[in-house]
Amino acid sequence: MNILILGSGGREYSIGLAISKEKENHTIYFMPGNGATDKLGTNINIKDYKELALWAKQNKIDLTIVGPEGPLVDGVVDIFKANDLVIFGPSAGAARLEGSKAYMKNILKKYNIPTAAFIETSNNEEAYNFIDSMQNLPIVVKADGLCAGKGVIIATSKEEAKETVKDMLSGNSFGNAGSTVVVEEYLDGYELSVFAICDGENFKLLPAAQDHKRVGDGDTGPNTGGMGAYAPTPLVNDEIYKKLEERVVKPTLKGMQNEGCPFEGVLFIGVMVVKGEPIILEYNVRFGDPECEILMPLLETPVSELFYKGATKQLDKLDIKIKNQYGVAVVMASKNYPYGDSEPAEIIVDEIHDETLKEHSHISYAGVSKEGDTLFATGGRVLLCVGFGDDIQTARNRAYALCGQVHFAGKKCRTDIAYQALKHVGK
Ligand code: AMP
Ligand code: GLY
Repeated sequence: MNILILGSGGREYSIGLAISKEKENHTIYFMPGNGATDKLGTNINIKDYKELALWAKQNKIDLTIVGPEGPLVDGVVDIFKANDLVIFGPSAGAARLEGSKAYMKNILKKYNIPTAAFIETSNNEEAYNFIDSMQNLPIVVKADGLCAGKGVIIATSKEEAKETVKDMLSGNSFGNAGSTVVVEEYLDGYELSVFAICDGENFKLLPAAQDHKRVGDGDTGPNTGGMGAYAPTPLVNDEIYKKLEERVVKPTLKGMQNEGCPFEGVLFIGVMVVKGEPIILEYNVRFGDPECEILMPLLETPVSELFYKGATKQLDKLDIKIKNQYGVAVVMASKNYPYGDSEPAEIIVDEIHDETLKEHSHISYAGVSKEGDTLFATGGRVLLCVGFGDDIQTARNRAYALCGQVHFAGKKCRTDIAYQALKHVGK
C-alpha cells in the first residue's frame, strides 16, 4: 500500500517503523515527519489539507493515518473523505470528544458513562456556586478547548478553584480555549491509558498502558506530554477490561452514532481506577504519545491492516493479535523541557554490541532534525528508548540499557518508568 502518516513526533515515527517492518512492502510518506522519519519513508510538506488531499489522490495513497489531534479537530478526515480517500481518524464532529471537554463530559453524562461529577459553564457565579457545594478537596478546573495538555488545574482550596475559574473565563490563562470551563470532583486512584481502535460500530481494545506525565521521578514537577510508558499493565484485570467494554466503549460508540457522528479512529480513554471501578477522566481522539511507541511494536496484527480495516468498517472481520510481551518506553528530553526551548544538540548513538539488546530494543525518534547524516535534538521530547521482554523488569532494563548508549548535551530522562507495575508485581 501507499501510506501517508500525518504528524512529526515519536508517535508517528513508531507507526511508520511498525509499518516498515511488515511482511508486505509499503511505501510510506510523512507530512511533515521529522529528521529521522525520512529513513522510513519520504517527508513531504503540504500544509493545506485540500492541497494535501489532491496530492494524496495524485500519488495513489491507499491509506492515510492521522497522528495528532489538531488536524482531526480541523476536519482533515472530512476533507479526505469528500475526496474519496481512505483515512483513519474521526470526523471533526466526532473529534469534539477531545476538542471540547464540555462536549465530552456532556456525552459521558447523557449516555451514563462513569465520570467525575461536574459542572460545565461560562458563568463565574454558576461555577462559584458549584464549587461552594463541593464536599471534598482538591477541586479540578479544566479549560474547555485544546491547551496542549496544560488546561487542567488541580486546586487545593475553594478560593484557588474560584481564582482559576476567574482567570480562565476572563481569557487570561488560555484565551478562547478557556471561555467555557469544566469544574469537577477530584478522583483518587491510579491512572490508565486505554485505546480502542474503532470503525464507527466495532472496536478492538489494546492492552492498557500507563503514562508518566510529570517531568520528575516519583511523579514530581510540572506536567509534560509524557515522560515514558509501559504496557500491558498488571494493574488491569479481565474484570476492568470487561467493564471498560460494556460500560464505556460500547455506549460511547452507540451514543456517537445517535449523535450523528459515528466514532472512527483511536478512542484514547483516560481512566482513573477508583476502588476497582474505571471512571473516565477524559477522551482523546488519537493515540497517546508515548503510549503509541510501545503499543505499535506489541501488535502482531499488521498495523496497516488494523488501521485500514478501522477506516473501512471491517473491524468485525479482524482477529487482533498482540505479542505475549511487555514494552517499556523511556523518553529522553532536552535540558529545558517542559519549561522552554533548548539549544540544538548533536545526537550520538553508540554501536550496540549486545545481540539480545539489539534485538529487543529500538529508538523512536521525535524532536530531531537532520543535517547531512547527523541528527540533532531540537528540544522538547527528543527520542524514546523502547525495550521489550517477557516481563516488565527485563523490558525496562533493556530500555534503560539503550538510554545509556544515547548521548546529547542536556539529555534527561526519568529513572523510574513502570514503577507502579514493579511495585504491584513485587507485592
Ligand atoms: P486531562 O488533560 O483531562 O487528561 O487531565 C490531565 C491530568 O490531570 C490527567 O491525566 C490526570 O492526571 C489529572 N486529572 C484530570 N482530571 C482529574 C480528576 N477529576 N481527578 C484527578 N485527576 C485528574
Ligand atoms: N500521553 C498522553 C497524551 O498523549 O496525551
